[in-house]
Amino acid sequence: MKILGIETSCDETAAAIVENGQILLSNAVLSSMDQHVMYGGIVPEIAARSHIESIVPVINQAFGEAQLDWPDIDGIAVTYGAGLGGSLLIGVMTARALAIIKNKPLYAVNHVEGHAYANFITESKLPGYQLPKAQPEFPILALIVSGGHSQLVLFQDHFQYQLLGQTRDDAIGEAFDKVAKIIGLPYPGGPSIAKAAPAGDVYAYDLPKSKLDSKYDFSFSGVKTAVLRLAQALVGEDYNFPSVKLPQRLNEAQKASIAASFQRIAVETVVDKTILAYQEFLPKTVIIGGGVASSTELRQQLQRRLAIGIEYTDPKLCTDNAAMIAALGYFQARQGINLSDPFLLDINPNLSM
Ligand code: KG4
Ligand code: ZN
Repeated sequence: MKILGIETSCDETAAAIVENGQILLSNAVLSSMDQHVMYGGIVPEIAARSHIESIVPVINQAFGEAQLDWPDIDGIAVTYGAGLGGSLLIGVMTARALAIIKNKPLYAVNHVEGHAYANFITESKLPGYQLPKAQPEFPILALIVSGGHSQLVLFQDHFQYQLLGQTRDDAIGEAFDKVAKIIGLPYPGGPSIAKAAPAGDVYAYDLPKSKLDSKYDFSFSGVKTAVLRLAQALVGEDYNFPSVKLPQRLNEAQKASIAASFQRIAVETVVDKTILAYQEFLPKTVIIGGGVASSTELRQQLQRRLAIGIEYTDPKLCTDNAAMIAALGYFQARQGINLSDPFLLDINPNLSM
């Protein structure tokens, strides 16, 4: 069964074809990121407009890469939430129109669940993908960490899962983005901080880890504020000093050590809880997904502390893509989950797990 996935929840316009939820046949992604960099974050109107321009070429590219045509496709899977309303609309409306015109079943996919299913892709017809050797076995503990989400989920089986914990405030990726801004590094912050950190001392600054009563919830607003106060103190100013002036006052060594110390603490925060959940539930496999799952620091810390081996997927399948949507779409198609009326399917920007 070959599923066409369509993903437009944020700034990436993506289309991909995946066979049986396992074999990557194509993976087309066009990001409008370069149009957002100067604003230091995603501008929803620009993202939506860019999706309109890109969606048809990107779908054509997905067919071209896979050397397939519409008769080969068994269904369409589209992200209907969570995400930016204007962005989601473009993907969902395109998928609806195609499902009607091409007479294909349409499956509505939850973006955050999709991040976990990137780990089910174990074979690729495309060059340049480092994939897990085997699909994860249930029960699966999944750490989903991105710019919009930080969640710890226990899957007993497909579509039988329990949300163990989530962030109470900022997502971990958002914290990376904000800390990068404080020290004057470009958006998106995760890769910028990863690049700056090796020149710094990971123990230079003692940043706080959040302490919440709930065992598996996360919080990142405290550490973000701590970085701001630290930077203000380092340049000899108080909390009234505007953050936009900090990059020009901090020296390179201070910036690198803030990046290194923050990265270590932010990653430790999610790894601590993942290890705790592993010890309580003893899942067969642990997986990670979402943009922050491409972090080398996260991969190394988790591997070092986890009692079992862990396989990681290619970073290209961690950041937003449509292959993960097509992979999950296959498992939905097998069980008839979220089979949707192409005349009625609506977006749900606040969809949760
Ligand atoms: O999954 P994603 O592409 O979009 C959302 O669904 O949010 O994740 C984007 C996030 C950004 O916040 C970015 O800073 C973060 O993933 N990110 C990283 C790394 N690469 C991307 N964070 C930490 N380390 C990285 N290497
Ligand atoms: Zn995402």
